[in-house]
Amino acid sequence: MARARKRGRGFVATALLVAGLAGLASTPASRPVWAADSVPATGPASASGKILAPTPPMGWISWSQFAEEIDEKLIVETIDAMVANGMRDAGYVYVNIDDGWQRYKGSRAKHPLEVDPVKFPHGMKYLADYAHSKGMKFGIYSGPGDITCAGYTGSGGHETEDAAMFASWGVDHLKYDSCCSHKDAPQAVVEEVFRSMSKALVASKRDIVLNACHCGWVNTWEWAASVGASYWRIGQDISDDFDYPGNREKYYFDVLDLIDHGVGLEKYAGPGHWNDYDMMIVGLNGKSPYLVGAGASNVEYRTHFSMWAMLDSPLLEGADVRHLDADSLATLTNREVIALNQDPLGQQATRVRDDGLIQVFAKPLADGSWAVALLNRGSATADVTISPRKDMQLEWDRYAVRDLWKHKNMGPYDIPFTTEVISHEAKILRLTHAPLKKSAKADAAEQKERAP
Ligand code: GAL
Repeated sequence: MARARKRGRGFVATALLVAGLAGLASTPASRPVWAADSVPATGPASASGKILAPTPPMGWISWSQFAEEIDEKLIVETIDAMVANGMRDAGYVYVNIDDGWQRYKGSRAKHPLEVDPVKFPHGMKYLADYAHSKGMKFGIYSGPGDITCAGYTGSGGHETEDAAMFASWGVDHLKYDSCCSHKDAPQAVVEEVFRSMSKALVASKRDIVLNACHCGWVNTWEWAASVGASYWRIGQDISDDFDYPGNREKYYFDVLDLIDHGVGLEKYAGPGHWNDYDMMIVGLNGKSPYLVGAGASNVEYRTHFSMWAMLDSPLLEGADVRHLDADSLATLTNREVIALNQDPLGQQATRVRDDGLIQVFAKPLADGSWAVALLNRGSATADVTISPRKDMQLEWDRYAVRDLWKHKNMGPYDIPFTTEVISHEAKILRLTHAPLKKSAKADAAEQKERAP
């Protein structure tokens, strides 16, 4: 519920951890209890019966940089830019239009839901077809209220006809936003509005990912998957800040706020159902005309991106991808970090250590290796030590370490690993068991001992 914008415009403003998939994992015998404990929720239904978001959706969304100033040209150019700059090939396939595409502001009782013919002269099917022709997917926005957050006609009471309309356009993704219309509604009512849109989407016979945007209220993570959502916001809107004291404008969350807010929620995420830490702010650089925030440094944006990847959040970029600076593009397209987010095991990282300014997050991966984030929230450089045995209860005699930002292999080690982490950096490491090979002599001796 982003209320205030720069320029005073005023935002009115799993069951699905499929056995076969789990089987991909080498399921280390030493896997800690907290990881094995993850309980996938009942997965969202879909028209085809398929899991719609087996890994967190990746793509772009219009709101943070453009708010209501969106049009056909922007969307076409965005698609072209994502093809040309390598984002599509790195996995960013969704191109999602947020609020502001509708023709009318005001009550649905007085206006139909139609596409703004000035902003989008060829309509939405044209754009969906264009996205599909480039190997991408197309997303749209609506909400269960009479009006949306920015005051346009909503879908409340018209779910079946709207879902059918979205399906006829070839829509693949719906951000359904109840942050304003249902801010104070009781949980049962909020559940019902998402359930009815989910049913309408399934009835439309097209597979459309449903994003339940309820700004993290009434414990959305506990029930959203069971009413049909593939992912749900865990908190209030992100601002373009890494660490703002308190909540900017008494509302927004910064990167560290969102990371803190998600601690303990990992058990609700898994293939097909994800915690959403909100749109990414990489490269906004404090320059969005609409989203508040001072911007962040490259190191901080890299930490933000890395943590969203570790936490299995959808990776939806919010900056103008037609004009990304080289550092931001390099951050967003680090395939080794993206691979952590898109890992088929779908295990969101857990905070395994909290030493105040230094925190350690870890997640097991399908191939039996582990991803680890060493997060330095403080203002001074620190030496951080990680012990697979102590921090992740892994009975590994020896392990290799790969730094996913330096793209460098280290080790193997049979002692804890120490590295320097600068202020606001998250070191992202991939740890792999590298057992000591026994000598032939030792093998023979062991076999002899075992022989009857
Ligand atoms: C907010 C939502 C934002 C954006 C905006 C559109 O409630 O949190 O992400 O969608 O509405 O009006």
